Amino acid sequence: MSHGDRIEKKPEGFTAIAKTPDAPVAGIAHKEKPLFGIQFHPEVAHTPNGSEILANFLFRICGCAGDWTMRSFIDASVESIREEVGNAHVICGLSGGVDSSVAAKLLHEAVGDQLTCIFVDNGLLRQGEADKVMATYADHFHIKVIKVDAADIFLSRLAGITDPQEKRKIIGPTFVDIFVEEAEKIPNVKFLAQGTLYPDVIESVSTRGPSAVIKTHHNLELGDRLNMDLIEPLRELFKDEVRQLGEELGLPHEMVWRHPFPGPGLAIRVIGEVTEERLAVLRQADAIILDELKKTGWYDKVWQAFGVLLPVKSVGVMGDERTYENVLAVRAVTSRDAITADWAQIPYDILGKISNRIIGEVRGVNRVALDITSKPPGTIEWE
Ligand code: XMP
Repeated sequence: MSHGDRIEKKPEGFTAIAKTPDAPVAGIAHKEKPLFGIQFHPEVAHTPNGSEILANFLFRICGCAGDWTMRSFIDASVESIREEVGNAHVICGLSGGVDSSVAAKLLHEAVGDQLTCIFVDNGLLRQGEADKVMATYADHFHIKVIKVDAADIFLSRLAGITDPQEKRKIIGPTFVDIFVEEAEKIPNVKFLAQGTLYPDVIESVSTRGPSAVIKTHHNLELGDRLNMDLIEPLRELFKDEVRQLGEELGLPHEMVWRHPFPGPGLAIRVIGEVTEERLAVLRQADAIILDELKKTGWYDKVWQAFGVLLPVKSVGVMGDERTYENVLAVRAVTSRDAITADWAQIPYDILGKISNRIIGEVRGVNRVALDITSKPPGTIEWE
């Protein structure tokens, strides 16, 4: 159970049947009816048999059938989107991430050419990512995609900024400005589609915890700025369900199983000032990390893995030369939901290969360090 939460007053007609030192009402039973309650988290990864407890509750106690399938979800969503949209036009932001990719594909199944996607390349994406998005969506799926090359605007606004929250406060609104400007050029748009997931819904209504404040969601602001109705076909799904949906919709494996990537992108992985040169160094090192993990099957075993470019230089030797270059940290975590995470125990030989390749191939890095902090107390990102 979460030790911060406690029930102090029982509901009418119930008696307490369990307590802990922190929680006076940890379990309750109704005096006459067959109603019981227990305070704990069956859904978290660390609860033994948690999923089985939920399954017993749903199927054996409540009598649920469990016949819901992703295919039936697609059919129902497509039908309801068609009904809602009619002949109107829909726009959807593509970020390259799983959520917006799946939302766009689902929307396209429903309304075809009435959908236009807007992809803002903020210059803070990983290596080759912008091209991959265009190749998949525009060329392969024949979805209308408008690509906006906005790297210059983002980088000029980020010049001289080192504080992580300042970076976020620049990137979020800049994205919104550019998106709105582009969206307003398209005539007759009545709907804005977004890949909002259930955890985002919870986060945006939650007034507790730091996450609601820290992660300023573009999504919410866009909805406010554009005078359009929102369509959020994924708002009742969790990440693993969105991935299942993506597979069912025929998205490439690589896109469905892509690691989550933060909205502010590499700007919060270049610690300190974000410049084109530093982004280029990080991009190359990051690509090597991902390449080695993919080759060894470790990419799919971890929740997120990436490089972090530190604002620290260290001395090294290369041949007969003394070098004085950047330090790069490798961050890899396992997690179910990003709320808690463990540092991933990637085998030494793979780490060794990553380190050798980065130092050998990336100019500007002469030392590689491994982050072995779990969350809590660390966070997944460094900024
Ligand atoms: P932390 O670093 O808080 O990250 O442990 C948890 C998850 O959230 C992602 N993250 C962000 N995503 N905007 C986003 O859209 C942000 O500002 C942001 N900060 C962190 C992070 O990559 C991880 O998946």
